[in-house]
Amino acid sequence: MSIHSADFIKSSPKIEECPEPDFPEYAFIGRSNVGKSSLINMLTNKKGLAKTSSTPGKTQLINHFLINNSWYLADLPGYGYAKVSKKTREIFSKMIEKYILNRKNLVNVFILVDARHLPLENDLEFINWLGEKEIPFSLVFTKIDKVSQREFAFNFKKYMQELRKTWEEVPTIFKTSAEKKIGQEEILSFIEDTNKY
Ligand code: GTP
Ligand code: MG
Repeated sequence: MSIHSADFIKSSPKIEECPEPDFPEYAFIGRSNVGKSSLINMLTNKKGLAKTSSTPGKTQLINHFLINNSWYLADLPGYGYAKVSKKTREIFSKMIEKYILNRKNLVNVFILVDARHLPLENDLEFINWLGEKEIPFSLVFTKIDKVSQREFAFNFKKYMQELRKTWEEVPTIFKTSAEKKIGQEEILSFIEDTNKY
């Protein structure tokens, strides 16, 4: 799929304020600073579309972008950001949970994990929660330009081991770098193939 247009629509603090569910929607989620906004900019070839920052916790609202006038891309706030209060974290996770369970046009959730890290408890918890709720999702490794092949192979294997403890099937997996523009075609083709709303 080639991208003809990518437009910011709105930022919403909760599902009730999101745009009408008129188009199929793909959500991007993951820990704070994992590279969600950077990946969105890379996918859409539009630097600055989603705001990126080296300070975690930048995205605190659900941001909707309309792509090719035919599908929504949603940039969700990062979860598990330690520097905000516990109360704020809880409000975020409730908001994300409610969005995922109730957004009618949601086709797929892309859950992003940093290729440099071994599986983290709250990422696994979130993945398992998606599985339990039967929400279609894919696993996206980010920042692969920052790890050696060997290091990544090791982290990847650990992820697969963890997932297989709970699930027979592993989700679709993408390996990406916003920096080196890796994984764009694969993710866009996946979206094109599943975009049958
Ligand atoms: P929040 O909105 O705070 O939850 O963060 P986010 O997940 O949207 O992360 P963001 O895209 O803002 O990126 C965080 C930092 O990681 C920035 O400093 C980016 O430049 C950097 N970064 C993101 N993707 C890549 C990548 O593929 N490679 C490298 N080397 N750096 C990246
Ligand atoms: Mg962001």
